[in-house]
Amino acid sequence: MSVALITGGSRGIGRVIALTLAEAGYDIAFCYTSNETAAKETAAEIEKTGVKALPIKTDVSNESDVTTMVQAAKDTFGSIDVLVNNAGITRDGLLLRMSDKDISDVLNTNLKSAFYTTKAVLRDMMKNRRGKIINITSIVGITGNAGQSNYAASKAGLIGFTKSVADEYGSKGICVNAVAPGFIETEMTEKLPEEVKAAYLERIGLKRFGAPEDVANVVKFLASPDSDYITGQVIEVTGGMR
Ligand SMILES: NC(=O)c1ccc[n+]([C@@H]2O[C@H](COP(=O)([O-])OP(=O)(O)OC[C@H]3O[C@@H](n4cnc5c(N)ncnc54)[C@H](O)[C@@H]3O)[C@@H](O)[C@H]2O)c1
Repeated sequence: MSVALITGGSRGIGRVIALTLAEAGYDIAFCYTSNETAAKETAAEIEKTGVKALPIKTDVSNESDVTTMVQAAKDTFGSIDVLVNNAGITRDGLLLRMSDKDISDVLNTNLKSAFYTTKAVLRDMMKNRRGKIINITSIVGITGNAGQSNYAASKAGLIGFTKSVADEYGSKGICVNAVAPGFIETEMTEKLPEEVKAAYLERIGLKRFGAPEDVANVVKFLASPDSDYITGQVIEVTGGMR
């Protein structure tokens, strides 16, 4: 039985990734920030598929929290075969109005967290001579986006991180890839004004917003042996966004 650890697994894209990997037979450890009820509900849904679930309360921007989370997953499941760095936040605004807290919260949650989680799982993956690390970046990490300089920088950083770690640990059998979603319907995008949503839709070739499943299915592929010769890549899941 393989084991996957997903950050930010109790809602949105992370929750659907957790359920999709559970259906594929992985035991699932996932973290959540504060909503214990949602985490318990997700864990119960995961276990309905016949695998085990472990929800762990964690702030991924805090290294000691991350170390504790990874240890808890290892204590329960033995080892971690797949790490999905999904947790992320936005604090949008024009640069001149962006506070230092808005900058550091986004960089710490979206980017520094991946340093902490990846460092915490790498040694075991090296020992096992296999492992899959999948980082959820964003199309705006490639294109940039007005009003999201902090978020776009964090997601662009995650792409550089992905390619570098892939290069460093490829010889140990570890694949590191990124998935770059476009506009996916979740609580994160729900709060955007209607005119912003309409402008996005205009730029999407398939003329529909993505669903969390669209991202989760690509993560499932990158977690599986079917993608064993793919590393250091960024897979765009945007419906053909221009
Ligand atoms: N929704 C989109 O259109 C879209 C597009 C591109 C990329 N993404 C990325 O996909 C990922 C998931 O986004 P989503 O749309 O599901 O958003 P969401 O807001 O619904 O979920 C984000 C998750 O991250 C968790 N999280 C936030 N801060 C955390 C912290 N400090 N510690 C632990 N967990 C924390 C939250 O609890 C939540 O479970 C994010 O990295 C986001 O940047 C989303």
